[in-house]
Amino acid sequence: MTATLPFPDQRPPSYIKLGKEPVFEASKHLALGPVEKITTLGELGYSEVEVKACPSDFGVSTAFRILSREGVAAMHEICMTMYDNRNVSIGTGLNRLGSYVRGAGYRSQFIKDFCDSPELADYLSNMAGVHLARHSVPAVACGVNYAPKDIRKAVDTWHVDSVAFDIVMMISDPQLLEGGEFQYFHGTKMEGQRLLGIEGEEGLDTELPPDRTITVPFPAAGYGFMQQGNMIFHRACRLKQKAERITMIPSFVVTPSTADDATNSVNMLGWDDPGLPAELTRHEAWRASARLEELVKSVSLHDDPEALTKQLDDALAPLLKFRNSMAGPRS
Ligand SMILES: [Fe+2]
Repeated sequence: MTATLPFPDQRPPSYIKLGKEPVFEASKHLALGPVEKITTLGELGYSEVEVKACPSDFGVSTAFRILSREGVAAMHEICMTMYDNRNVSIGTGLNRLGSYVRGAGYRSQFIKDFCDSPELADYLSNMAGVHLARHSVPAVACGVNYAPKDIRKAVDTWHVDSVAFDIVMMISDPQLLEGGEFQYFHGTKMEGQRLLGIEGEEGLDTELPPDRTITVPFPAAGYGFMQQGNMIFHRACRLKQKAERITMIPSFVVTPSTADDATNSVNMLGWDDPGLPAELTRHEAWRASARLEELVKSVSLHDDPEALTKQLDDALAPLLKFRNSMAGPRS
């Protein structure tokens, strides 16, 4: 059994597949280096109960080396080529990001193979203390962010992610950037959101107390850090000087597929990526079918109807929540 869902056979028509690109080879393009420090959720102020509800106590790491010099060169060229095929933001206000490619794996086999690489998943799983695999929703499995054309705008405002684990990897040379820092709030997301007066995963471009704001240093291109992104309140600051700032954001799911899943499919339904409702449907159906398979094995002839109902409800709840949200209030 594969650890994650394969990409769909189809591709959104507006996503252009790159014609010529190198073949990803882990031995050549990866250069996974040691991580200096990990900050746990407990250290950020999350309670024992809140941590227990998460797949692990891992919060956020410092930046570590991910790509070799050759890996950076290949990835940089691919990201530059994909720039003209960025996602179209319709300007509904739902798109927090300024300029981005989501579902980069549809366009680039190299990126897809990088995100799928077992070496990367093993490395990150060890760090997180939980089994991770490339995210089953292609839109978020491999995203690329570019600085907005208007540098008065933040690259990305204060928010939490709709997925549990992701890495933020610098593709441009960070030494050439003025501004554009990646920051997280040293506290819980609830506290950060309360300070800004926001809820959920919406973004807000404003300041949090500087003594509670941590800037993650990136030594060079090809370095990235991992975060439990749905628990870390974070942002990418605006650039002070116009410059190329490209980051890649690969996301991961917790496996096996029966594990609790923090993917916020309901929130992602509000995004306007082509194919995303179908991708989310596949994801939720995959997780629900794994829970149902488990239920087939665990049902006991001694269970009473009340206990059986509860088991069915637990197995189906995330799927039905997603289904009802997609169908709308009149369904
Ligand atoms: Fe984020």
